[in-house]
Amino acid sequence: MSNIVPHHFQVTKKDRNLQKEHASFLVWFTGLSGSGKSTIANALEHALVLKGYHTYILDGDNIRSGLNKNLSFSPEDRTENIRRIAEVAHLMVDAGLIVLSAFVSPYRKDREQVKQIVGEENFVEVFVNTPLEACEKRDVKGLYAKARAGEIKDFTGVNAPYEAPENADIEIDTSVVSVEESMHIIFKAIANKLHLKHE
Ligand code: ADX
Repeated sequence: MSNIVPHHFQVTKKDRNLQKEHASFLVWFTGLSGSGKSTIANALEHALVLKGYHTYILDGDNIRSGLNKNLSFSPEDRTENIRRIAEVAHLMVDAGLIVLSAFVSPYRKDREQVKQIVGEENFVEVFVNTPLEACEKRDVKGLYAKARAGEIKDFTGVNAPYEAPENADIEIDTSVVSVEESMHIIFKAIANKLHLKHE
């Protein structure tokens, strides 16, 4: 580590933001499997792109079949999963993108580390607080049934913990709020972050 000397490149985040004509930051969705994180992120990305913003989605199932395919769901591997994603998100924010990420991210300390890595001013936490019963009833991927049958160990909400955020910037329960409405709530909440601050 001590022999690594960062090079300072000429084109900065600010230049990339000016080129794209908007700010870049990370919107971090956390919540149980099946809570609606990816669905809302998808709707939000679509709305942002229609308005000309440059975006990218990082999603649990995608990242875990590529970059993080060597990681399990043990507490240590979940921490490493989130750490790598935070570093990737940081690069993407530096590249000028509005990054939307959808990961269970069940541990408070891991989400806190994401905030440190990308910088507090670049981090918006969205807690998709859909009750376990609703997620389990949906069971889109059939994973809750498998976990209840004892076929998956360490399944979040069933036999592994989920530490709910205490101070999320935005909280949404998709068992009572529609995807469209959720998207509007988040869009409104991040509206003032989208524009470049002129010095
Ligand atoms: S995290 O806990 O490390 O943040 P991540 O968001 O990457 O999890 O992956 C969660 C997705 O993997 C879930 O949506 C679900 O489809 C699947 N999955 C498979 N096994 C588990 C498990 N033991 N706990 C939670 N999700 C699991």
